[in-house]
Amino acid sequence: MERWNLSTGSEKETMELGFCLGALIDRPLIVLLSGDLGAGKTCFSRGLARGLGVPEEVPVASPSYTLMNSYNGRLELHHFDLYRLSEPEELLDLGLEDYLPGGGVAVIEWADIFTGLARQYLAVHMSHQGPDQRLLECAAAGSCALNLLQRWRRQWLRQSAGAGCF
Ligand SMILES: Nc1ncnc2c1ncn2[C@@H]1O[C@H](COP(=O)(O)OP(=O)(O)OP(=O)(O)O)[C@@H](O)[C@H]1O
Ligand SMILES: [Mg+2]
Repeated sequence: MERWNLSTGSEKETMELGFCLGALIDRPLIVLLSGDLGAGKTCFSRGLARGLGVPEEVPVASPSYTLMNSYNGRLELHHFDLYRLSEPEELLDLGLEDYLPGGGVAVIEWADIFTGLARQYLAVHMSHQGPDQRLLECAAAGSCALNLLQRWRRQWLRQSAGAGCF
């Protein structure tokens, strides 16, 4: 399991980090997001969607009520929010496995309930460090996700030394 920890200092920076990852995704992937209420999971997901090619004019909103929203980018994006699920079995009712590994990208907020159900994934745990400061603890399982994590880190470090992702 490869790990990478970093901090962001604003909503914009978290979106840029998500964008940076989204822009590198070139094959189906599961992204597991966890962390406190308001940690920035939706913000990160929105940036990832833009990086994956979901157009600016398409709103990427929290799927808290719908449980899942799908978008067309370079790959299809399925954005889940499992906050309201209490039993892992409900995942089956939701049809989540129909999307996985599938041909698209699944980004799953409140993914803790999902842990152990996937063998290959990129996981990001987000927590508050200050009003605008967030700690992101990133980990990869499986060779594709591991490779992606390494490319993401390299790209982010290169860009944050320069102009940023946008
Ligand atoms: N560094 C930061 N990264 C992300 N969001 C930040 C940051 N600093 C402040 N914020 C604020 O924190 C909030 C993050 O909200 P967001 O909906 O993305 O969180 P969430 O983890 O998806 O919440 P929920 O658990 O309700 O789904 C926003 O209001 C955003 O402006
Ligand atoms: Mg959210």
